[in-house]
Amino acid sequence: MKKSIETLKGEHEAIRGIFDKVEGCLSVDELDVGNLANLLHDFGKIWDAHELMEENLFHLSQEKGPPFPEETMFLEQHKELRGHWKVLQDAVGSSDDARIKVAIETDGKMLMEKLKSHMGSEDDFFEIMAEKFEGLEESD
Ligand SMILES: [Fe+2]
Ligand SMILES: [Fe+2]
Repeated sequence: MKKSIETLKGEHEAIRGIFDKVEGCLSVDELDVGNLANLLHDFGKIWDAHELMEENLFHLSQEKGPPFPEETMFLEQHKELRGHWKVLQDAVGSSDDARIKVAIETDGKMLMEKLKSHMGSEDDFFEIMAEKFEGLEESD
């Protein structure tokens, strides 16, 4: 449990690092689509497994009860984030530079904004969840 949380927090940091680079790319006049596509690829390598690991953890936490409203909220937010991510992946898959640019300016920016706030809330919630699991272990 503690180890999973440490892994997830580390991945949040890695994702923030990628977003900083994406934002750096977006701040220049001429978009480097190739570089942005690579950054999205790096993000996908972390995000897909990250989300799965979190969802397993949130479901486990719900089962161990009492469930917190945060778990349901995070699971709902994952669905929303996946919608933006799908648009980005489809755009990159099309290899159409104009389409990739539009997707990054719209869904990309929304994904980054929403995910940054989501990860911040998760980081806080992990502490609460760890305490819950510690309490359960002690009462076993
Ligand atoms: Fe999450
Ligand atoms: Fe997360």
